[in-house]
Amino acid sequence: MDDLRDKYMRLIAGAADEAALEELRVQAVGKKGEISLKMRELGKMSPDERKEAGPRLNALKDEINGALAARKAALGDAALEERLRAEWLDVTLPARQRPAGTIHPVSQVTEEVTAIFADMGFAVAEGPQVETDWHNFDALNIPGHHPARAEMDTFYMARAEGDDRPPHVLRTHTSPVQIRSMLAHGAPLRVIAPGRVYRADYDQTHTPMFHQVEGLAIDTDITMANLKWCLEEFCRAFFEVDHVDLRFRASHFPFTEPSAEVDIRCSWEGGTLKLGEGDDWLEILGSGMVHPKVLAAGDIDPTAWQGFAFGMGIDRIAMLKYGIPDLRAFFDSDLRWLRHYGFGALDMPAIHAGLSR
Ligand code: PHE
Repeated sequence: MDDLRDKYMRLIAGAADEAALEELRVQAVGKKGEISLKMRELGKMSPDERKEAGPRLNALKDEINGALAARKAALGDAALEERLRAEWLDVTLPARQRPAGTIHPVSQVTEEVTAIFADMGFAVAEGPQVETDWHNFDALNIPGHHPARAEMDTFYMARAEGDDRPPHVLRTHTSPVQIRSMLAHGAPLRVIAPGRVYRADYDQTHTPMFHQVEGLAIDTDITMANLKWCLEEFCRAFFEVDHVDLRFRASHFPFTEPSAEVDIRCSWEGGTLKLGEGDDWLEILGSGMVHPKVLAAGDIDPTAWQGFAFGMGIDRIAMLKYGIPDLRAFFDSDLRWLRHYGFGALDMPAIHAGLSR
């Protein structure tokens, strides 16, 4: 029995895992284990021998069971220790790395403009950047021979050889979305349409691709006064000032009658741009009352409805608001520029929470 005890104590102490322990348990105290077989031999013993061997065998069985349980617990502890070591983690580290990019001023300003006009009841409309000649020109009262087509420095898409239909164009303004919105929704209507537009032009204040936001309001009693109020209200909210000076200058667009260009008072003193003071004026948008022919092209009866429309340069007003001097840098994808002028990804412009922070 001492040999048996020594043997199993040694084996149990050296067992590497639970499976090995289970094998030892079966081998020693299982139904056909060594101890169990010894117990069966008790029956063949004399009463005196049995009295002596029985308790010793039982004690040995208990001792082995105890050793198995202790070893099992020790193995479990070691496994837990190992896991805690392996799965260690520094909870004081920042949860996420700071994003490397920022929100581009054009995106930021588009969101700001949208928030302001949404507050005034304007829905957001969209149209394609590759536009039909009809939507971009004809429907807006710019027929084929009209000089405005040449003035716009239009990019034309190539047609297949032998295809004589007028080519598609990269839209030169967001005004075609006026037509698309009228045809899709009819009157009354109140939409803005921000998006990319294209003209073959490149200098400090012009890039071949830039951004506009179109505005269109159609109802039975819309006047220039509504246009003026909307634009002044917009400028106050957008530039986050109590007072802005706007100048409405008589102008001409084929798709509005009468038409006005709108300038904003500013000063460039000391190389920095200030709004609402000084003797300089910066043009920010074109506007007017929607031409009856344009309403008709949009399937709206010009004898029953009127509307105002405007088209504003998003990049322009972004430069103004955030003091960015060169438009070309907007599209250079220079990370240093973006880190300087960009906006935090989680700072969504909202009327109630402040537009820019
Ligand atoms: N589409 C004009 C432009 O790009 C702007 C404009 C829009 C003028 C709507 C009047 C009405 O210059």
